[in-house]
Amino acid sequence: MHWNKLISVLLFSGVLAALSACGGGGSSGPKTGGPSFPGPGPTAEEQVAQMRVDYNEIEGLKTLADFPIGTEVSAANQANSIFIATDQQPVLAYHFSNLVAGSIMKAPWLYPQEDEFAFDPADELVAFALANDMTMHGHTLVWHRYDWVGDRLIPEWMENYSGDWSAMLETYVHTTVEHFSGRVTSWDIVNEAVDYNGLTNTAGYRDTIFYRNIGPDYIEDAYRAARAADPDVQLYYNDYGLSSNGAKLDFTLTMLEDLLERGVPIDGLGFQMHITLDGPSAVNIEAAFRKAAALGIMVKISELDISINGRNTPPPVDWSRSPTLTAALALEQKARYKEVVAAYLDAVPPAQRGGITVWGLTDDSSWMRTIWDDEWPLLFNGDFTTKPAFHGVREALLEQ
Ligand code: XIL
Repeated sequence: MHWNKLISVLLFSGVLAALSACGGGGSSGPKTGGPSFPGPGPTAEEQVAQMRVDYNEIEGLKTLADFPIGTEVSAANQANSIFIATDQQPVLAYHFSNLVAGSIMKAPWLYPQEDEFAFDPADELVAFALANDMTMHGHTLVWHRYDWVGDRLIPEWMENYSGDWSAMLETYVHTTVEHFSGRVTSWDIVNEAVDYNGLTNTAGYRDTIFYRNIGPDYIEDAYRAARAADPDVQLYYNDYGLSSNGAKLDFTLTMLEDLLERGVPIDGLGFQMHITLDGPSAVNIEAAFRKAAALGIMVKISELDISINGRNTPPPVDWSRSPTLTAALALEQKARYKEVVAAYLDAVPPAQRGGITVWGLTDDSSWMRTIWDDEWPLLFNGDFTTKPAFHGVREALLEQ
C-alpha cells in the first residue's frame, strides 16, 4: 500500500469502520467473535445511506492514486461555472488533481473569429487549477461536432471557411498550444476522428469538416503543429466507443500505430467511456485497455460517466427508464465504477497511466441532464455528499 493511502486509511478509519459495519466495504454479516449467524444484512437503502458522507469526511480520491484523478468543469459565464457556483471549488481541490473544461477550451471559445483568439476564460480556469495544486488537461482542439443542445462547438467562421485549411489548422493548433505551454500538462488534440458503422460493423475515418478540407493528413498535421509549439506537453488522441473492444478500437489502434511508426508525436490514447450499467462488459473494457497499452503509449480514461437508464444490450431489452435513482441501481452503479477502475489498474502498467477523469462533479451538473432528467451518472450528489459510485472508485483504488 502506498504511504499516502495508508495515512488516508488511518485518518478516516472511523468512516471506514462505519462503512464496513454496514456492508459498504463490500461484505456483510458478522466477521469476528464466537459462533454467530449471518443476519439478513443491511438493506440496499441502508447501505446507500451509510455511504452518503460529506465530501470532506472521507479521504480525497486523489490521495489514493499515483496518477491524475480528474473531473470536468464549467467555467466563465456558463450556467454551472465554478466561478459562479463557487461552492464547487473546495470539493474540486479536495478530491481531484486534474481539471478539464467541458466547453471553454473548444474552438468557439478559443478561436471565435478568423483573426481573433480569446484566451481569457481558459486562462482564468487554468490559473484556478494551478493555484489549487491541480494540473490542467486541455480539451479539445480538433473536433467534428457542430453543437450539443445549443452549445456551439465549431465556430461559424470555421464552418464557412474557404481559405487554406492546412494553414488555418496549423495557426489554430500552434497558437493555442503555445499560449498554454507550461501551464497545460496534456491536450486532446484530435477528438473523435474515427467513425463506426453498426450495420456493417466497420470503422473508418469520420467525414469531418477537417477531413473534407484536408484529407486524413489533418490528424498528423495537428499533432506535428502541437509538438512544434510545446516540446513537453502530452498529446492525446481521444474517442468514444473504444472500450467495447470492437472494430472502432481496432481501426483506431491501427491508425495510431501507423502514425507512431512514422514519427508523429502522439503520447496517449483517451478512452472517453460514456458507458452504461450494462455495457460494455468488464472483460471487453480490460481487453481494450490492454491492447492500447501494448502500443507503449499512455492510456487514460478521459470522460467517465455511467448512465443509469441508457442501455447497451442488444434487444430484447427493457427500455423503460427508472424515474428515480433507486438504492438497487445506485449499488449496481457502484459495482460498475469499481470494475472499470479495477480493469484500468489491472491492464495499464503504472508508467502508462495517464489518469482517470470523471465527466463532471455532481449528477445535476452532468451533460446528460441537458437531455434527460432521469440520469445520475457521476460520483457526488448535488449537496456534495458521496454516492455509492464514489465508493466504487475508492474501493478499487484502495484494493490495487
Ligand atoms: C460535452 C460537454 O459536457 C457539454 O457541456 C457540451 O455542451 C458538449 O460537449 N465527448 C466529448 C466531450 O469529447 O467534449 C463532450 O462534452 C461529451 C462527449
